Amino acid sequence: MSQIEINKKPCSDGVAIVIFGVTGDLARRKLMPSLYENAKQGRLPEPFYILGFARRPWSHEKMRDVLRQGVLDHGRTKPIDEVVLNRLLDNAYYVESTFQDPEGYDRLDELLRQIGVVNTLLYLSTPPGWYSTIVENIGESNLESCEGGWRRIVVEKPFGRDLDTAISLDSILHSVFAEDQIYRMDHYLGKETVQNILAFRFGNGIFEPLWNRKYIDHIQIIMAEEEGVGTRAGYYDKAGVVRDVLQNHLLQLLTLTAMEAPAVFNAKSVRDEKVKVLKSLGEIRGEKALSNTFRAQYVSGTINGKRVPSYRDEPGVAPESTTETYMAARLFVNNWRWAGVPFYLRSGKRLSKRVTEIAIQFTQVPLSLFGQRNLAGEAPNMLDIRIQPDEGITLFLGAKAPGSAMQIEPVKMHFSYAEAFGDEPPEAYERLLLDCLMGDATLFTRSDEVEEAWRLTQGIIEAWEDQDLINLPVYEAGTQGPHGAEFFITNDGRQWREI
Ligand code: BG6
Repeated sequence: MSQIEINKKPCSDGVAIVIFGVTGDLARRKLMPSLYENAKQGRLPEPFYILGFARRPWSHEKMRDVLRQGVLDHGRTKPIDEVVLNRLLDNAYYVESTFQDPEGYDRLDELLRQIGVVNTLLYLSTPPGWYSTIVENIGESNLESCEGGWRRIVVEKPFGRDLDTAISLDSILHSVFAEDQIYRMDHYLGKETVQNILAFRFGNGIFEPLWNRKYIDHIQIIMAEEEGVGTRAGYYDKAGVVRDVLQNHLLQLLTLTAMEAPAVFNAKSVRDEKVKVLKSLGEIRGEKALSNTFRAQYVSGTINGKRVPSYRDEPGVAPESTTETYMAARLFVNNWRWAGVPFYLRSGKRLSKRVTEIAIQFTQVPLSLFGQRNLAGEAPNMLDIRIQPDEGITLFLGAKAPGSAMQIEPVKMHFSYAEAFGDEPPEAYERLLLDCLMGDATLFTRSDEVEEAWRLTQGIIEAWEDQDLINLPVYEAGTQGPHGAEFFITNDGRQWREI
């Protein structure tokens, strides 16, 4: 490591964020641009230090250059304010070390002492296989900078690869940190539109009376992506869509849609309610898991006029891979509010377009009055909560078309974020990083929440592993998904919403 040219300073109130794995994509694409946006808004505490820790033989200067480029390429608001960026990077230092080497942690400790900040945010931005090693080494080296401050750790998803590994990672974390120091990241919770689910449900009086099995026929949650696995095949081929997004993002959307109102709006109460929903999903194993799920993998196709390869031909994917890139599931929240209401979840890579939404389908009218002149159908009411893109909420209704006949047409009432609030919503990481700095864990997953989500996911994974599947269904890239996935819902007398 090159010499650190800073003098030992007395302890100040500031914060140092230590990014383990600073040389990776996340630091460049998300963390640094989000820190920059927060700095630009004057929201970061002062002084603020960025300490990078990774294996590559980088200098402080090299790290600063890469992080600067990250802001230039991925900064949300342009033009970039050079004064703010330079100020942030002037306080950025690099520690070159393997993650196993205790001496690297000693050097980090020394650096923390030299800069003399009281508070430390440790950020695990490495491949997940390193989490335990890093936490154990943090525990050994102590990494205390000054007395009296706080120390928190952020753990990126995936949190374990099944229930056992999640429990064991938790126990290692808890041997060094208390639960209230641990921030398990699911970036979906930082999205404005995801937080708005709670504002919409609990800040308005008119939806609550309808939000139950009596008036809701079913709910569809879809997270569709155009992108393939990109450069992440090494991770994805071992994970598949069920570990990658069902265990976290999709179940988060489901819990926020289904949960009861918390007693107060704080981390404990909100997370208590979410855990209850996960518990109400019950056990889904064996035959039950097979008959309530569907999986498939993409083959080559065309997206936006461009030919894209099959999943098995993507760089880094095993040629015989049976990893699923699409899944559909039917889940039931077995409680008094939701008993009998199916929640249909779908997610896939390389689908026809990128969209994440929650569609609440309300029940039919009790008595049909307009017959064939009702072009909106007997169940026209659907509430579409659009998480991204074109963030907003749309309520579908039937209305009389002008003219002498009583003809009913489908119409929409629409709220758009962009129209109402002007700007594009901020990047999820901006909000989540600030919350970690302020010590608000409401938008982070608690250990029991992660375990409940794994319990459900693992039942599905095990059923799939035990299934004697001769051929994994496939779907052409750029389409709505695999044939077969529609039977899954049409057998219930319902249909998928178009992506
Ligand atoms: C990540 C998954 O957590 O979320 C990726 O690992 C996925 O596979 C990504 O592409 C989607 O995030 P967003 O914010 O683009 O919807």
